[in-house]
Amino acid sequence: MLRKPLLLAARSTTCRRIVERTPITRAMVHRFVAGEDQVTALPVVEALGRDRLVTLDFLGEDTEDRTQAEATVLAYEDLLAALGEAGLGDRAEVSVKLSAVGQFLDRDGEKIALENARRIAEAAEAIGTTVTLDMEDHTTTDSTLGILRELREDFPFVGAVLQAYLRRTEADCRDLSGAGSRVRLCKGAYDEPESVAFRDKHEVDKAYVRALRVLMEGDGYPMVASHDPRMIAIAGELAVANGRTAEDYEYQMLYGIRDEEQKRLAAEGKRMRVYVPYGTEWYGYYMRRLAERPANVLFLARSLITR
Ligand code: FDA
Repeated sequence: MLRKPLLLAARSTTCRRIVERTPITRAMVHRFVAGEDQVTALPVVEALGRDRLVTLDFLGEDTEDRTQAEATVLAYEDLLAALGEAGLGDRAEVSVKLSAVGQFLDRDGEKIALENARRIAEAAEAIGTTVTLDMEDHTTTDSTLGILRELREDFPFVGAVLQAYLRRTEADCRDLSGAGSRVRLCKGAYDEPESVAFRDKHEVDKAYVRALRVLMEGDGYPMVASHDPRMIAIAGELAVANGRTAEDYEYQMLYGIRDEEQKRLAAEGKRMRVYVPYGTEWYGYYMRRLAERPANVLFLARSLITR
């Protein structure tokens, strides 16, 4: 019931102003966001321990300003250089939203996003790590996959997210299941119409398993991005059934969610990667985390009432 209004609010500037000014929200945001800048985020990465891999996301999305897109690229270049200096290139990669690097700009948005993503990929290549393109709402899927294709010609290590709730995703998984292809499969976090997406949770779960099966049977590198115990168990079974070792796929979860399960999988010798977002543009990301789990909203409401 709360999912749709929260996802609508995630894109409203008025709601954004209200939420961002509430002091208690800022405290709650730290459950999901590692810090406001690189300096505060990197110790969080260290603290996760050497047995967990990470992917860092410099928060930002829906950029309509070329200067802001440029600032985002510079932040990623700085981050990757710092990861290299700290010797973290083997443990940390980056996740990038193309809408943060120019995809929605009025003139030449896609071209600018491609060029900007190229610069980030070059900086990643320099320290021997990878880049994964996040997936936003369904109006961007074709554009994002087109940019992925072009990037992969020069930077084959660039991967992408596919969202199981989209009806097209099983076919996209087939297209992207070849050798060297890195696909992060998630359920999907946006409010999508019935015409393009499964909306019933049970249907989404079934679609996730179908898509995962395609990836596990293929020759690429599946990244199982889910906190759902059933999806995690099924991923393990599919990996074994397809002769994959622990190095041939990985589990991924968001920072601040199911920390004990993350540690358990890592302790079992599984590759476990944590998605760690940081930066001041946390609003959209935070609202999507609230929308995923009503208990998070109740917790926030209780804190506001009892303060
Ligand atoms: P599900 O929603 O069924 O949750 C299973 C269980 O996980 C819940 O019962 C609860 O215990 C726990 N849980 C899930 N969400 C929680 C929350 N917010 N707070 C507390 N507990 C929670 N989406 C997208 O559209 N584009 C993208 O690029 C990405 N990228 C991405 C990267 C990674 C590494 C992950 C793990 C996820 C994404 N997502 C995403 C988000 C994804 O689409 C999805 O919305 C969430 O992962 C929740 O789905 P689950 O698979 O966890 O299942």
